[in-house]
Amino acid sequence: MSDKKKHSIHTIQKMKANGDKVAWLTAYDYPTAEFAEAADLDMLLVGDSLGMCVYGYEGTVPVTMDQCIVHCEAVRRAAPNTFVMGDMPFMSYQVSDEDAVRDAGRFLKEAGVDALKLEGGKRIISRIKAILDAGIVVCGHIGLTPQSSGQLGGHKAQGRTIASARALIEDALAIEDAGAQMLLLEAVPPEVAGFITKKLSIPVFGIGAGPETDGQLIIVSDIIGQFQAFTPKFVKKYANVAQVVTDAMKAYVSEVRGGVFPADEHCYHMLKAEIGDFPALTKEFE
Ligand code: KIV
Repeated sequence: MSDKKKHSIHTIQKMKANGDKVAWLTAYDYPTAEFAEAADLDMLLVGDSLGMCVYGYEGTVPVTMDQCIVHCEAVRRAAPNTFVMGDMPFMSYQVSDEDAVRDAGRFLKEAGVDALKLEGGKRIISRIKAILDAGIVVCGHIGLTPQSSGQLGGHKAQGRTIASARALIEDALAIEDAGAQMLLLEAVPPEVAGFITKKLSIPVFGIGAGPETDGQLIIVSDIIGQFQAFTPKFVKKYANVAQVVTDAMKAYVSEVRGGVFPADEHCYHMLKAEIGDFPALTKEFE
């Protein structure tokens, strides 16, 4: 286990006060979360983007509670010293406050996450309050909210008009007033994100929201070049895992077909003391 010191909501809030930027990434599985802990990420989000990045769905809507819990468990095991946030999937909180609290509780009881994120502003304030009343740390999520992308007319940036920017600012204030401890802005102009970040006393993070927020979130599959269906404008690729993995697989295929792999060093030979008796054994079966 690493000697990394795990954040609490208080140390994350302190980072805002000190002007220290939070580095936040999604992770969905054990190996990636292990790499993330070694890379000293401040936080991990087990996002419902796992629907696209892991399961090949077109969006996040089909993702279930059970899928989220299983992936949160794996990430928690791999990154015990990293602040891990679960992401409430579509229909885990839309119907009632009671559903929201019950589903939120599963994330903590079954997967041991440190906080939860849910999409929406003023219209979900009662859900946010209900989850907070259960003693759970909550991060709001406004701007491009993929679970309601149908209403938004697609995966489109928000806050680009005065009316839309006003709605975002009002939502952000309502989320802070409700008691949420953090806020995420997705696909929002930097001017609007910068204003909200300064206006709110809770940490405000951005994904596609420019440099002025208190920290950055990005989807791991995008920055390592693993997810290939599309690349949002705000993504910077730091690696090309798809190329590395495909090249490795092609080399394997070629070596298997060419009889190069496995070589002698990949074999478990019989014990030296026993090998002499092997011909006699094979004779028994002739
Ligand atoms: O599911 C996710 O990864 C997210 C981010 C895109 C914000 O919600």
